[in-house]
Amino acid sequence: MMKILVIGSNGQLGWEVCRQGIERGFLIIPLDVPEFDITNRPAAENAVLKSEADLVVNCSAYTAVDKAEAEQEPAFSVNKDGPSHLAIACNKKGIPLIHISTDYVFDGCKEGRYCETDRVSPIGVYGKSKADGEEKVRLNLKEHIIIRTSWLYGVHGNNFVKTMLNLGREREEIRVVSDQHGCPTFAGDLAGDILDIASRINSGQKESWGTYHYCGGGSTTWFGFASKIFEIATGYETFKIKRVIPIKTSEYPTAATRPANSVMDCSLMFREFNIAAPSWEQSLDNMLGRYYSEIVNRS
Ligand SMILES: NC(=O)c1ccc[n+]([C@@H]2O[C@H](COP(=O)([O-])OP(=O)(O)OC[C@H]3O[C@@H](n4cnc5c(N)ncnc54)[C@H](OP(=O)(O)O)[C@@H]3O)[C@@H](O)[C@H]2O)c1
Repeated sequence: MMKILVIGSNGQLGWEVCRQGIERGFLIIPLDVPEFDITNRPAAENAVLKSEADLVVNCSAYTAVDKAEAEQEPAFSVNKDGPSHLAIACNKKGIPLIHISTDYVFDGCKEGRYCETDRVSPIGVYGKSKADGEEKVRLNLKEHIIIRTSWLYGVHGNNFVKTMLNLGREREEIRVVSDQHGCPTFAGDLAGDILDIASRINSGQKESWGTYHYCGGGSTTWFGFASKIFEIATGYETFKIKRVIPIKTSEYPTAATRPANSVMDCSLMFREFNIAAPSWEQSLDNMLGRYYSEIVNRS
């Protein structure tokens, strides 16, 4: 039975990897703060070296994009030093690492989809700390797979979908940015595909190390995403919301600047692993179905 050490097991993605991993018969070893701190090098190395794991999946991160602008130190500790500690330990132990990164390593100026070969050029502290983390993984461990994902949302944890649903219960109008383009990604899809990749590594497919893009199929804007959330969710509950209003980024100032375009090309993942996420609309439909049956209707 394959043993997987899942770091960041209480986060949106880590929680799904653990849940689906257990369902699929993997032996899952979950780790997260406060019991485990990835920024503590001896603790991180010991966790890997003493775990008897066959593979490490790093879903942990400092994900507060705006807060990171003022709190650079913790962002770099978790997103740069943490993956470095894991990669060094995995190298010592001779096991691979699947590490999760972000579309925010790009500046958003490209017209068209970002490929893995495009130059990274982050425009905020979070993106810079994640780009540095990727580099540390590449530098310290050959046997790695870095998966860049985007606009992640899950049944577990806080995210844009749940924020919109909560606002829609309280307000008649919501103003949402309509000039940032990206791909919403359901954590449930990514978790399942991470476990598929883990299985392939375990069964000897070991020539595919490197960096890959993974996000929901198609693309949209935050406004398009919000509109679709309410279109689907009104099938489950009645909201106060009457209008979702598109606005420009300049009308919604935030501490961190976001890339105007972070749509990613995921064809390399498909060519190498035969893996592609469903359309973002289909995945949102699936997530909301689970959200209403697992969370809302049980509370
Ligand atoms: N969320 C997005 O929209 C998005 C988009 C693109 C890429 N990603 C990437 O996808 C991955 C998963 O994101 P996510 O949304 O699942 O993140 P998340 O929900 O914020 O989960 C991250 C987990 O890591 C934990 N963590 C933080 N500091 C830690 C430390 N020092 N040691 C150990 N664990 C620590 C967090 O604990 P606390 O909650 O207590 O801090 C949390 O449980 C990350 O690599 C992220 O950068 C996310």
